[in-house]
Amino acid sequence: MPKHGVPGWGAAQSYIEALFAPQDVPLKDALRRSARAGLPPIAVSPSGGRLLQVLARAARARRILEVGTLGGYSAIWLARALPRGGRLVSLELHQEHADTARRNLDRAGLGKRVEVRTGPALQAMRRMVRDRVPAFDLVFIDADKDEYPGYLRLAYRLTRSGGLIVADNALRRAVSPGAPKRGGVLECNRIAARHTGLVSIIVPVLGKGVDGMLVCVKTGR
Ligand code: SAH
Ligand code: DHB
Ligand code: MG
Repeated sequence: MPKHGVPGWGAAQSYIEALFAPQDVPLKDALRRSARAGLPPIAVSPSGGRLLQVLARAARARRILEVGTLGGYSAIWLARALPRGGRLVSLELHQEHADTARRNLDRAGLGKRVEVRTGPALQAMRRMVRDRVPAFDLVFIDADKDEYPGYLRLAYRLTRSGGLIVADNALRRAVSPGAPKRGGVLECNRIAARHTGLVSIIVPVLGKGVDGMLVCVKTGR
């Protein structure tokens, strides 16, 4: 069986990654150390990381919220797209994941730009809405797939008009009947597609397989 189930996709992935998303030492190190700490190998692919950087730059993002830190791999890509003085807040349920991410971010020289907060993301996001924190320019959703609809609704309230909401893993489950946690992803995609305050699309992304990122521009206020 060819990679991605389609002949040519493995070559396409290698081509895109070599040209646009080569991983430097801190990125490779973050993956190596995450694996050694026993974290699952489910970080975004290099293409996914690069897409996040392109989107963060397009949005001129100075404040980014990430939902689901794991070992900080996607956080490294995102934090590197911030201008001086920019900040990334990343939410993570598990203390061991947050600790690993903190070490990886410090080693990548991004410690001061990134704050990792431990605890359930929905709670943290509700609290931020209640506390009227300054709006984010980009929210990246990548935690519990069952909670995607809730993350999307809260992200909408936390994002500035003209800002971006991006959700990982929006495609593979959606088109795989019987996939675990498919319902949350389908519902999230449906909400985004119908939302009058969002203009959205799923962008396929090559990695270990084909998946996709839901990309939404907030046109509402
Ligand atoms: N964004 C990361 C990958 C995240 S994997 C990267 O690409 O590098 C999903 C992460 O979400 C895991 O670390 C998991 O512990 C975390 N998570 C799961 N449920 C959560 C919840 N309810 N609140 C916050 N984080 C959660
Ligand atoms: C999986 C992949 C992800 O990117 C993620 O955020 C969660 C789970 C997976 O392949 O199971
Ligand atoms: Mg993911």
